[in-house]
Amino acid sequence: MTVPFLRATGITKRFGALTALKGVDLDINCGEVLALLGDNGAGKSTFVKILAGAHPQSDGALLVEGEPVRFASPKDAASSGIATIFQELALSENLSISENVFLGRELKRSVLGVPFLKRKTMRDRVDGLLHELDAHISDPEAPVGSLSGGQRQAVAICRALNLNARLVIMDEPTAALAVAETRKVLQLTRKLAERGCAVVLISHNIADVFEVADRMVVFRRGRKVAERQKDETSPEEIVSLITGAHPDVRALEQNSQ
Ligand SMILES: Nc1ncnc2c1ncn2[C@@H]1O[C@H](COP(=O)(O)OP(=O)(O)O)[C@@H](O)[C@H]1O
Ligand SMILES: [Mg+2]
Repeated sequence: MTVPFLRATGITKRFGALTALKGVDLDINCGEVLALLGDNGAGKSTFVKILAGAHPQSDGALLVEGEPVRFASPKDAASSGIATIFQELALSENLSISENVFLGRELKRSVLGVPFLKRKTMRDRVDGLLHELDAHISDPEAPVGSLSGGQRQAVAICRALNLNARLVIMDEPTAALAVAETRKVLQLTRKLAERGCAVVLISHNIADVFEVADRMVVFRRGRKVAERQKDETSPEEIVSLITGAHPDVRALEQNSQ
């Protein structure tokens, strides 16, 4: 048995009187695109925010490569190799692609004690990453403000890779994109998995999920109600798991009343 990159056990999250997550167990593996599905309010974003260090869990544990971790901030999660790409990408419009990728961790050299930016090294590194992702962006010096939504996703992914992310979480990355752009972002998720990253993709679009995910997990009212390999399920079954019409979910919900 290989150790999963990340193991979550019994993750529970309370916001005051509201329980947003109840005892979620989930393994996340390298080289795999895992889709997280569920209706609005099911707890998907809350769950990934806990993995990303944005919220502390109320209960339960996280293990990264078998070691218990406790994240006090997104920085802690990042140092464990976990990067999250939220819908609002937090890129600086007026800066170039390579400046965005290296923001806050620029490469510098010192000449007689005076720091200089290693612009060419940074640009070549970003160019290499963009090529590897097959992102169709020719100029790493272009301002991010000039890019399309899908290209911005590619820049955010480059930034994650440049931070040596092992797990990349994408929460509804295609929600605001046109069809062609969506295709591109879905291809990027596959590239990341091929590169050996673990990818968690939250999406409402079942067709998109079936296109790229290896495994699917359905959340409903704060619980994980199902987990399926893509080749052992169908879009119809996934929809019935999301809506609660599926007999497994009905049984689960009856028993917990
Ligand atoms: N910061 C918060 N404070 C209070 N309640 C929250 C907060 N974040 C999420 N919730 C609640 O937790 C539940 C799960 O929300 P969320 O994780 O955003 O669901 P999803 O991403 O699946 O749509 C919802 O009932 C939501 O209103
Ligand atoms: Mg959400």
